[in-house]
Amino acid sequence: MSELRFDSDVALITGAGRGLGRAHAVELARRGARVVVNDLGGAVDGTGGESSPADEVVAEIRAAGGIAIANYDSVATAEGGAAMVAAALAEFGRLDVVVNNAGILRDKSFGKMTAAELDPVIAVHLRGAFNVSIPAWNHMKERGYGRIINTSSGAGLFGNFGQANYGAVKAGLLGLTRVLAVEGKKLGITANVIAPAAFTRMTEGIIGDLGKLLAPETISPLVAYLANRECPLTGHAFAVGGGHVAAILISETRGITESALTAESVRDRIGEILDPTDAFTPPDLNFELRELFAALEGVRA
Ligand code: NAI
Repeated sequence: MSELRFDSDVALITGAGRGLGRAHAVELARRGARVVVNDLGGAVDGTGGESSPADEVVAEIRAAGGIAIANYDSVATAEGGAAMVAAALAEFGRLDVVVNNAGILRDKSFGKMTAAELDPVIAVHLRGAFNVSIPAWNHMKERGYGRIINTSSGAGLFGNFGQANYGAVKAGLLGLTRVLAVEGKKLGITANVIAPAAFTRMTEGIIGDLGKLLAPETISPLVAYLANRECPLTGHAFAVGGGHVAAILISETRGITESALTAESVRDRIGEILDPTDAFTPPDLNFELRELFAALEGVRA
């Protein structure tokens, strides 16, 4: 079986000074990628900053014979995103892979949530992915090749108490990924999204004892596959952790179609509407609309 290599490729990994990002950076570098290790080195809530986390990961990669540079810009600003892409191009002359991984937490139950919890979480996770991916995209488009991997969370895809801000942006990253997959199709750019479960400083208080099963390094094999030239997938979402990988599907049931739908028929047929038998998984909106029009044709016929 041939090894998945990155010998010609340059990867930018955000938030790579610790946790998952560090593991991705080390894994891609081990497989031959030249890596930009971005991290502003802040606390879990996004406050503060120091250069040592990114520097330490770069030192680790270099000690193992790999090639990496550090970058300390924040993904939360357009200038920061542009600067880290520019750093990749200045040092290595190209950028093939972006892993949007930087993240912070500011949990609060919904009624107590204020701009202090909402704005920074939107800025880092959601705007952050735009800030980094737009300049990267324009470079990738010119070269006709790119791999983008976004980092979502089960908190957004499935729901979790106290994480309305975080869940909303993480679900937003799924939407972003799906649109990039559609727009990237003719450009040679793929976009996929992962929902990891790993024991890091971000989750140590939540995961507890089971954490020993969920090393950050167990997430990186999926990232390495999705980032590789051999991977044709785009628009997919994956749950990943501890050696387990599964696809997360956005599916639609066959539902019901009536020419004169009423609230009562929705009530009376809700079981059929929710029935997952023969559910389909649209790759994009056009596909979903074709299914809708086919169903409408069916009742008119
Ligand atoms: P972590 O706290 O260990 O690492 C996140 C890194 O992002 C930190 O080193 C931090 O300095 C950096 N960072 C924060 N704001 C930044 C900014 N504005 N610019 C640049 N770097 C910034 O957390 P972990 O667990 O490694 O999280 C990585 C990603 O995975 C995050 O997006 C997180 O939301 C996501 N995630 C993690 C899960 C887990 O089980 N650990 C579960 C689901 C999602």
